[in-house]
Amino acid sequence: MAENRMDKIVALAKRRGFIFQSSEIYGGINGFWDYGPLGVELKRNVRNAWWADMITEHDELFTPAGAPSSFDMVGVETSIIMHPQVWKVSGHFDLFVDKMVDCRETRSRYRLDHVKGRWIEGKLADAAADASPETLFVCAVGDGPELLDELTKRALKLFGMRSNQADKLNWKSEPASLATLPVEQFASVIAPEAKSKGTLTDPRDFNLMFKTTLGALGTDADAAYLRPETAQGMFVNFKNVCDSSRVKIPFGIGQIGKSFRNEITPRNFTFRSREFEQMEMEFFCPPSQSLDWYTYWRDRRYNWYINLGVSKENLILREHAKDELSHYSVGTADVEYAFPFLAPGEYGELEGIAHRGNFDLRSHMEGKLCKKDGELVVETGPDGKPKYAGSGKDLSYFDDQTRERYLPHVIEPAAGCDRATLAFLCEAYHEDEAPDDKGAMQTRVLLKFHPRLAPIKVAVFPLIKKDGMPEKAAEIYREFKRAGIAATFDQQAAIGRRYRRMDEIGTPFCVTVDGDTLSNDTVTIRDRDTLEQIRVSVKELVNHVQERLRG
Ligand code: GAP
Repeated sequence: MAENRMDKIVALAKRRGFIFQSSEIYGGINGFWDYGPLGVELKRNVRNAWWADMITEHDELFTPAGAPSSFDMVGVETSIIMHPQVWKVSGHFDLFVDKMVDCRETRSRYRLDHVKGRWIEGKLADAAADASPETLFVCAVGDGPELLDELTKRALKLFGMRSNQADKLNWKSEPASLATLPVEQFASVIAPEAKSKGTLTDPRDFNLMFKTTLGALGTDADAAYLRPETAQGMFVNFKNVCDSSRVKIPFGIGQIGKSFRNEITPRNFTFRSREFEQMEMEFFCPPSQSLDWYTYWRDRRYNWYINLGVSKENLILREHAKDELSHYSVGTADVEYAFPFLAPGEYGELEGIAHRGNFDLRSHMEGKLCKKDGELVVETGPDGKPKYAGSGKDLSYFDDQTRERYLPHVIEPAAGCDRATLAFLCEAYHEDEAPDDKGAMQTRVLLKFHPRLAPIKVAVFPLIKKDGMPEKAAEIYREFKRAGIAATFDQQAAIGRRYRRMDEIGTPFCVTVDGDTLSNDTVTIRDRDTLEQIRVSVKELVNHVQERLRG
């Protein structure tokens, strides 16, 4: 069952040190997560795979298949707190809002579209004996099968029915988001956790940016914000990068770093957190080529996940409908993954690839833009001046080949590092049947990570703790370490148990030193996925593993 699979992944992540709840000893803090010893390696490998693909392994002399031309790629690391004007001009100060509702009964706050409900006819348990049944919208927060279960439990409780009476519930609709309900019908809504109807306030805007104060005075003028995206760091440095490096358009600026959003209802493990890491790239190109580059980056980014082991059955590329597009976007596609916490056929966003036109560079030059009669114009205040002034700096680009000056268009592939890590973890989770030490078939839990992502690449075991085997195994272990291959050494417990421990954390190879090693200098190497074991000479071992890790 879907929820079962997710529960198992979350339990494994905690048990084996991938992901812990932040500040757990104090009861945890909602929307924040810590990566343990294995999680930090997994996430670092995800980050490194992105950075290598985008920046360090990029060859600016070569035109990749599908790209309109060759191009340059560079990286930056910009500050988390930026000048507050950045967020005013970018639109985040006014527009980066979610609709929220408060419950007057439970004092809880919910993101409007996260509250889901179903119409049902029934009589509340505490209604007068002669009261007639009424039609109510019973709500809960959740997705997929978990949501249906929760709505059933809530309805049974509200109507004072027993748990075996679920088939007597008189549902009138399928689940729908509260956001689809007109406010006039809120009087019939029973909020998640509430006992009475009509306790929700009208929806209000809630800005997702975390506010902080600079310096000791603490006045309003000292307000600043933790960045809600890394992207603005690249836009405000566009000129600096052009002037300080030899990049020529088309080129991309990439960055990996933390972003913060005060999500109203963080949930689904690390999927929606308040502190998370983004891997974003702003690709600057001539306006005439921008649609070709958009298609190129959309397809390339989809394939990045496939090449790292995500199956095509679980990954889709979804073009946004026109009414879904951000205020700046001409076209956007999402790479989405079938996370196990979602209902079959539902997908969660891993990455957005957006065609942003020249919106960002133009805003940082001229001031905050808004749409008027279908055109982007500088938004003005009552005095006729820009509502939020831009930098006034010229951010245009001069092409010395064509002798043209223009504002480049931008294609932005914006990925979440934590979401990608979670998708790789979910995709890797497998259960199969394999023989134990005595040859009996047992359920085996394994993480089938792509070798590049596996936190530990190779485990080295002495078969038994005597006859010089531990010493020889320790020598081999150190050789792997010297070669820069993440290795571990384990001599505790029966060999079968040690294999299982490694399968469960996704180690692709286990090397075992046995009686033959001491006479012919060979070891066995076991493959996590096929369970196949072959003998390899110790002299060849590091090269052999390196080759197989390359795939
Ligand atoms: N610069 C554009 C931008 O930030 P976005 O779609 O809001 O676009 C990009 O964010 C990616 O960041 C998302 O696709 C997702 O992977 C990740 N992300 C956004 N909000 C998140 C959250 N609350 N928790 C975890 N990851 C998040």
